[in-house]
Amino acid sequence: MPAELLDGIAAARVIRDEVAEAVRVQRARGVVPGLAVVLVGEDPASTVYVRNKGRACEEAGMHSVTIRLAASTTQAELLAVVDQLNTDPAIHGMLVQMPLPAHCNADEVIRRIDPAKDVDGFHPINAGKLIIGERDGFAPCTPAGVMELLRRYQVPTAGAEVVILGRSNIVGKPMASLLVQPGVDATVTICHSRTRNLAQHTRRADILIAAIGRPKFVTSDMVKPGATVIDVGINRVDEPRAKNGYILAGDVDFAAVREVAGRITPVPGGVGPLTIAMLLRSTLVAASRVPAA
Ligand code: GUN
Repeated sequence: MPAELLDGIAAARVIRDEVAEAVRVQRARGVVPGLAVVLVGEDPASTVYVRNKGRACEEAGMHSVTIRLAASTTQAELLAVVDQLNTDPAIHGMLVQMPLPAHCNADEVIRRIDPAKDVDGFHPINAGKLIIGERDGFAPCTPAGVMELLRRYQVPTAGAEVVILGRSNIVGKPMASLLVQPGVDATVTICHSRTRNLAQHTRRADILIAAIGRPKFVTSDMVKPGATVIDVGINRVDEPRAKNGYILAGDVDFAAVREVAGRITPVPGGVGPLTIAMLLRSTLVAASRVPAA
């Protein structure tokens, strides 16, 4: 029997409706949650993500600002934009879309963002809070979205073997931190490009999370029958017959793996929509921490 589909679009819809309702409560006390998104350059994928983030904000009744800067923007100019947003009372959350052009120093930019407005959860303060389990920071949106999907589909995590493919600061590492928190209680293995006998690890997994950015990397022989497979990959693959000349493919060979797995996320329509929903929720949380006027 093919795997149950974990529908990220439906789950995101529920969260976005919950956020929109909570935005109305904030507005009633005079606070309009505001998100600023900074895009440097014209990376095609980033341009789409940034547009979607702005639209989602507006749909939820939030204040949305998108700042588009030329690819030639200097580090100093970018830091000045961050400084201005840090002090703007209409902005409760902000993010600088990654990747930045090569001449920019992303670490310095991330460190410049006020941790209280860092709804991406990339600032070292928020990364540290996540690791030690302090709940007044922000977790990165993609792993937070995966947790939400696991919760809403009641995927058991206590004592579960979770194998994460990928050790990025945006997904792999924070994903592991979220999964080992008390109350979640998973046993987590992070695999990466130097891992030996990769399939031996993945075949142990009750929950397999792929976040490596390689299309169809996870094949059916790497998956334990009945496992929950979460595909975080969004890879553009050339396809001359497609309208844009490409299609989106996950890190998982979906057609083959769905015959083995118990539950699986599609791409698109799996984790991606949750990422934006969690960004809205974090912006709402940031705004709700603003004391009453
Ligand atoms: N690039 C890819 N994903 C993300 C994200 O979640 N936040 C930012 N700022 N850039 C990204």
